[in-house]
Amino acid sequence: MNFPDDFTWGVATSSYQIEGAAHTDGRGPSIWDTFSYTPGKVVGGEHGDVACDHYNRYPQDVALMKDLGVQAYRFSIAWPRLYPQGDAQREQRGFDFYSRLIDELLNAGITPVPTLYHWDLPQANHDRGGWANRDIVGQFADYAAASATEFGDRAKKIITLNEPWCYTWLGHMSGVHAPGMEDLDFSIATAHHSVLAHAEATRAMRAVHSDIESGITLNMTNFRVAEGSNPEVYDLAALQDAHINRWWIESQLHGVYPQILVDHYGDKLARVIKDGDMDIAKIDSEFLGINYYSDSFLSNPAESDKPAEDGGPFPFPQRASGQVPEPTTDMGWPITPDGLYDLLMRIERDWPEFKEVSITENGAAYPEGIDADGEVHDERRVEYIRDHIAAVIRAAEDGSKIRSYFGWSFMDNFEWAEGYAKRFGLVHVDFETQVRTPKDSAKAYAAIIASNGAVLASVGR
Ligand code: FCB
Repeated sequence: MNFPDDFTWGVATSSYQIEGAAHTDGRGPSIWDTFSYTPGKVVGGEHGDVACDHYNRYPQDVALMKDLGVQAYRFSIAWPRLYPQGDAQREQRGFDFYSRLIDELLNAGITPVPTLYHWDLPQANHDRGGWANRDIVGQFADYAAASATEFGDRAKKIITLNEPWCYTWLGHMSGVHAPGMEDLDFSIATAHHSVLAHAEATRAMRAVHSDIESGITLNMTNFRVAEGSNPEVYDLAALQDAHINRWWIESQLHGVYPQILVDHYGDKLARVIKDGDMDIAKIDSEFLGINYYSDSFLSNPAESDKPAEDGGPFPFPQRASGQVPEPTTDMGWPITPDGLYDLLMRIERDWPEFKEVSITENGAAYPEGIDADGEVHDERRVEYIRDHIAAVIRAAEDGSKIRSYFGWSFMDNFEWAEGYAKRFGLVHVDFETQVRTPKDSAKAYAAIIASNGAVLASVGR
């Protein structure tokens, strides 16, 4: 058995999805506040003003994590709490909140793992051109350095960007996420500046504390092409793989973008790359974070799925666009634990440079609420996490450098454009009363943690 004894078991959340307190202690507005308040953007017109009220309830939330035996907590820092206007003007009360949270975690024996950017860009920053304005690279590096200065004595593992593919393409091209734009040039600039921002933030943090471990978190997937598909479907799969997986990895490891995308975007990409940029992009990261939910399925595409002749608008690899195998979760995403194993083995094969791999999110949306017995019997989530953790353990035994797993999410929260109806929590949240109730899945996860995976085979059976 190669499964490490010191494997780390965690849970994950993000700032806008749980904190609430949107106008407290000098926090500035973010693009998600603006987007949520734009009619028609979020299901039910919901927003993160209160969310799980974690800003006020963090001591109880940390205590609950401790009860469950959680060993690490991945949360995100809201940039607009630290820099309400996205410039040099600091808000000390924002820094103080995360400092208190980190101390609370450490006192509970839980390792804090902050993410610097989980999508809540200061609105003021977006108003100055956002991710398409190259200035963001330096601003993000400054914000990273300040975070390293304040928190890096206690938080040694820091994630720079969460799922840059999502905010690049869903935020600026399909417009289903904040800031709700549909602009190919803006998207391409965002993708490039994000690559530079990860690298420069990593350098900036290392300059403050040389022992900080920095990595990016990507929403990775395998593209499965249905048998009997036309050759063009295989081409589409290659193009989508380059967008979602290879772009972010090969730029940091080798200082290049996948040739298929260089060709696909031509001048549109060439004009945002300045001399020397690819040297800046190249950086060794201590780890690679992966958010894995499901594989993506492609079959002969509908017209709307085909890349346009001029390179845009581009077809977005949603998690599934072909025939989706049943059953699916409440998000309509197929359940493909073998895909997680295959992905981890691919990383080992294609990009062995990563010293460590972490599953920074994995989980499922299911609607189960509190039953007559006062409990939440979410058997399907129990099975989902069991089967995905089994894939992680199998990959570790087969040589993957996977060292940690974070369940998404610690508790039900604001699921972006889907509002509060999609529940990903291991812990149930009653959004009227803010009462937290650990679901059966939380109890199953607690048993998995306590045994370092040994009880897995008996979970949910
Ligand atoms: C990921 C996001 C996370 C959460 C899950 C379900 O794409 O990083 O915030 O919404 O999906």
